[in-house]
Amino acid sequence: MPPADNSKSSVLVTLATGKLGLGICEAFLGVNDGDNAYVVHGTSRNPQHPALLSRGIQPIEFQFGSKESIERALNIANPDVVVVITALIQIAKSVSAEVEHARIILDACKDFGSNHPGRAPPHVIFCSSHSATKDTPDRVPHFKSKYFCEEYLRGLDIPHSILKPASFMENFDDPTVYNPLTYGTLRDLYPIDTPVPLVGTLDVGKAAVAMVRQSMRHGEKVPCISIVSTGRQSAECLSQASGTPGCSYQTAPPRFVQYIILRDLYHMVSHVGQESAGDDCYQDEMKAFRELVPKPMSLQEWFQKKGKWADGTPFGEKPTAKSMWDSKLVLVASSAVLVAVAWSWRSRS
Ligand SMILES: NC(=O)c1ccc[n+]([C@@H]2O[C@H](COP(=O)([O-])OP(=O)(O)OC[C@H]3O[C@@H](n4cnc5c(N)ncnc54)[C@H](OP(=O)(O)O)[C@@H]3O)[C@@H](O)[C@H]2O)c1
Repeated sequence: MPPADNSKSSVLVTLATGKLGLGICEAFLGVNDGDNAYVVHGTSRNPQHPALLSRGIQPIEFQFGSKESIERALNIANPDVVVVITALIQIAKSVSAEVEHARIILDACKDFGSNHPGRAPPHVIFCSSHSATKDTPDRVPHFKSKYFCEEYLRGLDIPHSILKPASFMENFDDPTVYNPLTYGTLRDLYPIDTPVPLVGTLDVGKAAVAMVRQSMRHGEKVPCISIVSTGRQSAECLSQASGTPGCSYQTAPPRFVQYIILRDLYHMVSHVGQESAGDDCYQDEMKAFRELVPKPMSLQEWFQKKGKWADGTPFGEKPTAKSMWDSKLVLVASSAVLVAVAWSWRSRS
């Protein structure tokens, strides 16, 4: 990796190897208009992470919850912009721990600004979640924690903005949660006819870039929603983008499995279902997002850009036996969970 170019503005992104982090890094790397181009630093547990190296992102080893770790990252990156991404489900595991992770990073950003009086303090962009509000029910902890992080940031008196992304289109192809995009089948947590607000993470990144360039956006919260789509409509988009007639949609894992082993996500699905019940739901938020990102990707464009199934077979080519088998895997796995639960209840009675 060549050394960072000091003539460019510097961006530090935490949790850079995740779906959101990579989208944000790519958006800053895509800005290439001479003087305003960015050098992008991304944190990971693995300083050799291939997702960072292959994109030209400067890797910085980092541990959530460590003050020394974030201070070191700030000193290496010397950033003009810090994009703060934290995570409850994958990392912190509790509301208080995620808020503590965010607090340590945000305090360090403030101190970094105070300790470098000759330069403008870094602009902090906190990545929250669309549905994280004061009224979010406690039974959806990974939304509630983001609201508390937002409140902490607002009380710090540092230049900042807050992005509130809806459900990522990238969730439709995420092998890390056993949901690869398999032949002819689309899966997500929601029931097939629930309208779900969606956004591609590259567009969230474009919103971050636009916010940095419009300093009057200091203190603003911007919802990030490109489109609203039900599972049925999303499967139709996949059919059209992939040239595969009759693509189907599955709620995965099924609701009863979510209830048993993913209770936070089960309640999130119910909460978003209630939110999206109104007729013109999300229209104002989509309009606000388009002020920053005038032409966000549609879901069909997102599938077209992907261009292939998760096993690498390009859309339009004959599917491999593995891809066909993988597309049935959720049904098989859920049936196994159902049988196991039924067996355990039967044994108890
Ligand atoms: N998914 C959505 O639809 C959605 C929508 C709105 C907001 N959000 C929020 O956006 C944030 C980022 O989500 P994401 O989906 O981009 O994340 P993600 O893709 O699940 O992030 C994966 C990264 O988390 C790190 N990681 C995984 N397990 C870890 C562990 N035990 N300890 C430390 N690091 C670990 C890994 O980074 P390294 O291996 O490089 O360390 C990995 O690359 C979350 O707060 C989420 O709530 C998500």
